[in-house]
Amino acid sequence: MNMDNLVGNPQSVKVSEVVHETLSARTIIFNIKRPSFTFMPGQFLMIWIPEIDEIPMSISLWEPPKVGVTVLPIGEATEALSSLHQNDWVGIRGPFGSSFTLDSKSALVVGGGVGMAPLRPLVYSLLSNDVNVTLLIAAKTRDDLMFFAEFSQVKNSRFTLKTSTDDGSEGIKGLATDVVKELLKESKYDTLYTCGPELMIYGFYNTVKESKISFQASLERYMKCGCGLCGTCALDPTGSLVCVEGPIYTGKHLTKISEFGKYHRDAVGVKKKF
Ligand SMILES: Cc1cc2nc3c(=O)[nH]c(=O)nc-3n(C[C@H](O)[C@H](O)[C@H](O)COP(=O)(O)OP(=O)(O)OC[C@H]3O[C@@H](n4cnc5c(N)ncnc54)[C@H](O)[C@@H]3O)c2cc1C
Ligand code: FES
Repeated sequence: MNMDNLVGNPQSVKVSEVVHETLSARTIIFNIKRPSFTFMPGQFLMIWIPEIDEIPMSISLWEPPKVGVTVLPIGEATEALSSLHQNDWVGIRGPFGSSFTLDSKSALVVGGGVGMAPLRPLVYSLLSNDVNVTLLIAAKTRDDLMFFAEFSQVKNSRFTLKTSTDDGSEGIKGLATDVVKELLKESKYDTLYTCGPELMIYGFYNTVKESKISFQASLERYMKCGCGLCGTCALDPTGSLVCVEGPIYTGKHLTKISEFGKYHRDAVGVKKKF
């Protein structure tokens, strides 16, 4: 493999559109014309924000040549990214990482907050594959529900939309972990796909681990290179690199990861409890 491919073919792209998804989350859209740029739901880009930092972002929009990422501002780089305007420039590398597999007949897809980002293209891919999809969009309050208006418009007999909020301002009131337990009692699903806060993912994992339901989750870890060179994103105890073997892990894989749901590491490798 040549060096350019290894580091994800860095290129500059001009922002073509910025969509306000919630009060604070923004989808940054740009055009990618490179024919070799292929993508599977769950994969991510390293986005360089000039003079600030380079950070991992899931691809949330895939309508070639239009590609987008959805960012929630929580720190310097995400704030700078979400403040960009049309015609600003960013650098991109990738796509990187593993993807969700689409081998399901009846899927429950659950996104918590901005965790909906990689699940948005997943839902459309599952529906194109004639999979029955129930999507639960979960958030703290109504204002944080990601892509709610968009998915409310989806007209497909195979698609069911549910929402839940911690404060009951929209949909089912309660934590997503409790809501999913109820949904699993009401209907049969063969696969649970999820992304969001790791404690939420860990809760779902514990709910389904003794069942026959396949589990696929997107994990977030601090990343530097994004392409397997620096070791920053290694998981205990196997050393699995989230930027290469992840970010999508199956339940089978997660049983071997002792830090899953317990801790992650910061920029200098210090353990941080969830
Ligand atoms: C594969 C992948 C896909 C991602 N996709 C998205 C996305 O679609 N949309 C989005 O808004 N965010 C996404 N993120 C998270 C995003 O990359 C981080 O929020 C961002 O790097 C934080 O940078 P910052 O400078 O804004 O904040 P910082 O100042 O670096 O951090 C702010 C706080 O967040 C914590 N933090 C930073 N990065 C991470 C991380 N990776 N995991 C856990 N905690 C972290 C820090 O410890 C600190 O407490 C993704 C992360 C990964 C690994
Ligand atoms: S971020 Fe460098 S190896 Fe994963």
